[in-house]
Amino acid sequence: MSETQPQLFPDSEDAGTYVTVAHVGDIPEGRGRAYPVGKRMIAIFYQGGRYYAIDDFCPHQGASLAEGYLDGCTVACPLHHWRFSIEDGTWLDNTRIKIDAFPVRVVDDKIQVRLPPEDQ
Ligand code: FES
Repeated sequence: MSETQPQLFPDSEDAGTYVTVAHVGDIPEGRGRAYPVGKRMIAIFYQGGRYYAIDDFCPHQGASLAEGYLDGCTVACPLHHWRFSIEDGTWLDNTRIKIDAFPVRVVDDKIQVRLPPEDQ
């Protein structure tokens, strides 16, 4: 069984490959967890029965966004409460700015994330 969520990067061979970062059941509903993936720390959230992946590093002072507070598809940083969309990484207090978001898929019981080649 395979579930593919909307992809944020073009679906080409240059777009990188999916890597397994966790398994179904590792992340409770409504919570996030941080995982090292390639050269990055990625925050994976399980919200509303779907998985989302964004950069774990808060651009303000570097707190782990996976430790933040979820309200729907918004995560508030645990330190100073800057708010980001877990769907596309938009900083909701200044929507011209985004942090990186990554495609996520579930294959069997594996949660997989795709990073661009430069981050692998
Ligand atoms: S470290 Fe995230 S808002 Fe300050």
